[in-house]
Parts: sequence; structure tokens; C-alpha cells
Amino acid sequence: MTKTLFIRTYGCQMNVYDSARMADVLAPLGYSPALSPAGADMVVINTCHIREKAAEKVYSELGRLRLEKEARTARGERMTIAVAGCVAQAEGEEMLARAPWVDIVVGPQAYHRLPELVARATRAGGGVLDTEFPAESKFDALPEESVAPGPSAFLTVQEGCDKFCTFCVVPYTRGAEFSRPATAIEAEARRLVRRGAVELVLLGQNVNAWHGDDGATVGLGGLLRRLATIPGLARLRYTTSHPRDMDDALIAAHGDLPQLMPYLHLPVQSGSDSILAAMNRGHRAADYLAVIGRLRRARPDIALASDFIVGFPGESDDDFRATLALVEEIGYAQAYSFKYSPRPGTPAAALPLQVPGDEKEARLAALQAAIVRGQTEFNAASVGRMVEVLFERDGRHAGQLIGRTPHNQSVYVAAPPALAGRIAQVRLVAASERSLAGELAGAPALYLEGVAG
Ligand code: SAH
Ligand code: SF4
Ligand code: F3S
Repeated sequence: MTKTLFIRTYGCQMNVYDSARMADVLAPLGYSPALSPAGADMVVINTCHIREKAAEKVYSELGRLRLEKEARTARGERMTIAVAGCVAQAEGEEMLARAPWVDIVVGPQAYHRLPELVARATRAGGGVLDTEFPAESKFDALPEESVAPGPSAFLTVQEGCDKFCTFCVVPYTRGAEFSRPATAIEAEARRLVRRGAVELVLLGQNVNAWHGDDGATVGLGGLLRRLATIPGLARLRYTTSHPRDMDDALIAAHGDLPQLMPYLHLPVQSGSDSILAAMNRGHRAADYLAVIGRLRRARPDIALASDFIVGFPGESDDDFRATLALVEEIGYAQAYSFKYSPRPGTPAAALPLQVPGDEKEARLAALQAAIVRGQTEFNAASVGRMVEVLFERDGRHAGQLIGRTPHNQSVYVAAPPALAGRIAQVRLVAASERSLAGELAGAPALYLEGVAG
């Protein structure tokens, strides 16, 4: 008998990847996707612990699900509620105590065991916990993908983090740094391309710390070279990287792999050396600028993106001005900025000189204004250019598709539905802060024809 499964995903792209894999794991049990939690036999919330706001959303969502479950139970029906992801890992038992209507709490390294956990929860009537970091790799235990990928597919190649930035929960929720073997990655990449993916986005919390199984000789640059030989794979991207792991081979790959798109998300967090030191980032602003300089020499048109935290404990006006200066100096194509959020168990949460909320708010507004100026300028400078766009999905209006440029800009184009999943030449005609409008030019390049596995 088929049952329905609804998965809600918060957090980063790795959670998006994990949610798809949880659906794969549950598919053999007869679960097929539902469009909403209402009426679903099983609901999974895949959670994020990175900032307080993200973590708190989970409990409001669980409150709503409790009502749904009570109504269903009153009608004699069963509903299984599972919490996965980084809040599940961080809170474990505590979550079962605070929300006893939750059946399963499962961490990011244990979700391949969901079938067993569902069976145990059914027998025990709920309250099952698995937040171990099992010795066996979950990747070895995962089944093949059950649903065909979109034109741009995520592929997790690395997990966890050993960097221990003082503000960050990731090393605790995802565990130690781990690289998947190159052979398994290549096999998954070939399957995704065979089933229609044109672009692969390699994922990892510290993706450029990826290293091959033969020791340190093959880094991410080598892996990208290997994947670039897959016929039909037109585009490669990777995210998120750490400035300290941008080695020569990876930078060289940006210079000579045409499939590697000229866009890099390389978070710097702050432009102040004393704040970078207090964050334990392991680099100064000048080191970051030097990495950007090397990247630009290898690939002059590379577009850059970053993350920033404002109001880290002890951040002075001068420290913040150094961040603004760095934003001006680099000219980001895209950037995300956050108010520092003290996280339980991280060293920075215990630091003196926490920055008051209104000060964080003011700095965030000033930084975001600078970022928006940069983004708007970057997009405006693209107008008039002819670029290759990979069409990913339907636009808001009929007859419109949305795609991405090599520089990761969203473009709206009037285009026939047959172009979905394909790359076509587009002339960029108008720009805003977040996106561009384009017009089709000439016939599409047919990348999908005759793809071999
Ligand atoms: N692995 C990536 C980032 C992972 S978290 C890296 O090393 O850059 C994504 C972003 O969330 C971070 O880049 C940081 O800007 C932000 N972030 C992490 N912890 C935070 C906290 N405690 N408060 C506010 N923002 C935070
Ligand atoms: Fe968090 Fe720092 Fe690791 Fe990124 S490098 S995941 S910010 S600890
Ligand atoms: Fe959030 Fe975990 Fe990703 S804390 S950002 S879901 S690694």
C-alpha cells in the first residue's frame, strides 16, 4: 500500500540534498511524495541550527504538526513525525522531552537508518532517537536516487568541518571532516547526468577541503578535472569553500576547465583582522585578498560571493568599517549577511563584549545597502552581453523560463517549454538588484543529445 511522505527543509543546500536522500531511503517502504503535510502519513522536518531564529522555527512548526497529529489520532489514523538535521543532532533527547509527540529524532549522519527507525517507532509508539555518527558511512548505505534530478543537481562530496570557527555549530552538528571516495562521487555524477542533469553543484560544509582516498595528492581541483570528462555535463560548481583551502591546483582548475563556472562563493565573514582572529578563521583580510587576486589571475571574469557576520563579540565601529571597505574593494556579485547569533556550546557565545541588538541591526542595514549597491552594479554591467543560460524552471508568467548565467545570475526569458533543462544563447537586456531579463538569440545548443553514461 502506498503511503505519503512530506519533507520540509530548512538550512543549507546540504540539507536539500539530504532531504532528497531521505525520500530515496523511504521510497522502498512505499512512501511517495506529498505536496503538503496535511494528510501525509509521514512528515519529516529537516532542520538547521546555524542561528537561533532558524532553530526556533522548528518548534513553531512542530506545534502545528501536533494539532494535525491529534486530529488524525482521534480519527483512528497514524501519522509519523520525524525531526532530522542539525537541530535534531544538537538537541537529541531534549527535543523528545520538549515535543513528546515527535516519533523520531535522527541526526544528519544516521538518516540512512530511517527504515529501521520507522519500524522501531511503530513498535514503541514513538520516541526513537538516533544521533550517532555511525562507523559505516551513510553514503555506502544509501540507495540510488528515486527521483530524476533537475537540470542543476546537488551532489554532496564532503561533510563536516574541523575548522571550529568560534561562532559556528557545524563542527558539532555535522561532525568531523569527511570526504567521499572519488569513485562513488563519479558514479553518482554519471547517474545524475544520465538522468538529465546538465549542471552539478558539488556540496560540502568545507567542500574545498575535499581530498581523494589516495592521500593528499588529489584535492578538489583533481576531482573537478575528473568529473569534467563526463559527456553531457556542461557545468560544474562547488560550495561552500574556506579561503584557507583554496590551493594552487583548485585555482588552476578555474583557469583551464571550461565546465567550471566563473563564480565562487568564498565566505570571509569579516574584514577586520582582530575579529577574524577572534573568530578563529585562520586567515587575515590580506590573505583573503591574495587568494582573490590569484583566482582573478587564473580566471579574470570570476564573480565572487561571500557570507558576513556583523556584531561578533567585541566588533568595534572600526572593525565594522574594515568589513565595509573589503566589500567595496572586492565588488561582490552576491553576498549574504547575518547578525551574530550566540549558539549554545560555541566559544564565542561565552565571550564578553556582546554587541547590543540595535547596533547589530544598524550594521546589518549598512552592510546590506553596500552589498545591494555592488550586486546592482554587477548585474547592470552585464546588460547588453550575450551569455549562455541554463534554463532550470518555469517563470512566473506563462511562456517564461528562468535560468542561470555562468555568473550564477537569475535570468527571466520568454522561451518555449522545450528549452527547459537546456542551455541557450541569451542577450541580457535589463537588470535589477536580484535578477536580469534576457532575450533568446539564435538556436539552442543541444547539450542533452546522445548523453552516454
Ligand atoms: N562552511 C561555510 C559556512 C557554513 S554556515 C563556511 O565556512 O564559510 C553559513 C553561514 O552562516 C556562515 O558563513 C556564516 O556567515 C553564518 N553563520 C554561521 N554561524 C553563525 C552565527 N552563530 N551567527 C550568525 N551567522 C552565522
Ligand atoms: Fe562553520 Fe567555520 Fe566550519 Fe564554516 S569553516 S562550517 S563557518 S566552523
Ligand atoms: Fe544549518 Fe546544518 Fe546546514 S546548521 S546551515 S543545516 S550544516
